[in-house]
Amino acid sequence: MTTLHLPLDRSSGTPILRQIYQGLRRAILDGRLRPGQRVPSTRALAGELGVSRLPVLCAYDQLLHEGYLEGRTGSGTFVSAALPDDLLRSAITPVAAARRGHSSPPRARDEGGLGPFRMSLPALDQFPHTVWARLVARHAHGLTHAQMAYGDPAGQVPLREAVAEHLRAARAVRCEAEQVLIVSGSQAALRLATAVLLERGSRVAVEEPCYPGARAALGANGAELVSLPVDDEGLSVGSLRKRGGRVRAAYVTPSHQYPLGVSMTAARRFALLDWAFHHRAWVLEDDYDSEYRYVSRPLGALQGMDAHERVIYIGTFSKVLFPAVRVGYLVVPPSLWQRFVDAREAFDLFSPTLYQLALAEFLREGHFARHLRRMRGVYLERRDALLAGLARHCGDRLTVHNADAGLHVAVLLAAGLDDSDVVRRMAARGLTATALSTCYAGKARRSGLLLGFGGSTERRLLDATRVLGEVLRASA
Ligand SMILES: Cc1ncc(COP(=O)(O)O)c(C=O)c1O
Repeated sequence: MTTLHLPLDRSSGTPILRQIYQGLRRAILDGRLRPGQRVPSTRALAGELGVSRLPVLCAYDQLLHEGYLEGRTGSGTFVSAALPDDLLRSAITPVAAARRGHSSPPRARDEGGLGPFRMSLPALDQFPHTVWARLVARHAHGLTHAQMAYGDPAGQVPLREAVAEHLRAARAVRCEAEQVLIVSGSQAALRLATAVLLERGSRVAVEEPCYPGARAALGANGAELVSLPVDDEGLSVGSLRKRGGRVRAAYVTPSHQYPLGVSMTAARRFALLDWAFHHRAWVLEDDYDSEYRYVSRPLGALQGMDAHERVIYIGTFSKVLFPAVRVGYLVVPPSLWQRFVDAREAFDLFSPTLYQLALAEFLREGHFARHLRRMRGVYLERRDALLAGLARHCGDRLTVHNADAGLHVAVLLAAGLDDSDVVRRMAARGLTATALSTCYAGKARRSGLLLGFGGSTERRLLDATRVLGEVLRASA
């Protein structure tokens, strides 16, 4: 039981017993204490209020008698689970009503839960729980006083060193630990970059279609988003050039364009870096799932090709471990470092130290590299199962646009099929896909589906493609 805010006015002339009774009753009626919630023991409340136990006992007795409280033998005193509704309604304020859930509950972001085709989900069933639990427990037990106090806004040094080592080796990123800033995921990284680099009214180029989360983060400070087309080579740098020097930054997903899946060609990458250099603009490289590539070797990061420090590189552990770990990172050019660290500190000081330490050890002891290697095989099998199922059950209604990398496959629907309508029908059958049209800022040029395969087993994916085939035939 948390402590209870119950102000007493000793000079008011109202007996203390009455003030305690009224204070508790009011807390129940306006929803600060909820049905079923435990209230403090009489001894604890008396201690908190600095009064003898007798008035508290009397107040509780009265509330028990009136049905506001109920005692449960051996486990304490609770707000009655079955408070008469009209009793509550009569006294309740609109704000309290909303808090009590009488208005519609807050919308859960993840309406699709863990259903088949759910985007952005890794194979949670394959995560090495035992190793992870051991590392978290070890660090939880061993936290020093210094580690329990305020931490470095840039992140824990061992984690920054381990991330830098991984990025240099696996992604050809040119960086030192002194450029690595730990944040709570790529979404936070984008928000931070926005705060540091963009002002209200600044222009930032984004891909069309684009990851909606990136759009939301980049536009949050009032920057103007300029959507530029993506073709088979990635973002159209020709369109960017036509905008001249008024665009301050470009957001790109060069390793695996979200959502279409293309990988930006080397020629485009050089053209983009050249644009940034000549216009003193910034490139925000979101390298969200580059670790998984099935048809050729993963391309190095754009950041590693940049000779003029115009790229801010963003990565995340959401796909390679699990989203709820909430750890991501930026690699920032030295010239911007202090501004980023200051802005990060102003936002939320620093990321939780315990997870950072456990994660650093996870990387250092080789568990991360082992997990990645194993997952490449798992995802290849899942992707192949999805492709086989699509060919068998849906081949006449859709074409696979890209399945070369990452944890999702982009498919285009046959003419006449509206992707939002199909997604609604899929949801009614327990499938969770994303409509490609939701990724367009303007009129959608294509109707398609984004089918996540990372979070589902092969059997489940095969079954889901059969249901998808039925949905598509019924929608046509
Ligand atoms: C392209 C892209 N960028 C960023 C993110 C956000 O990742 P994080 O969980 O690290 O905030 C996602 C999540 O799906 C994504 O698909």
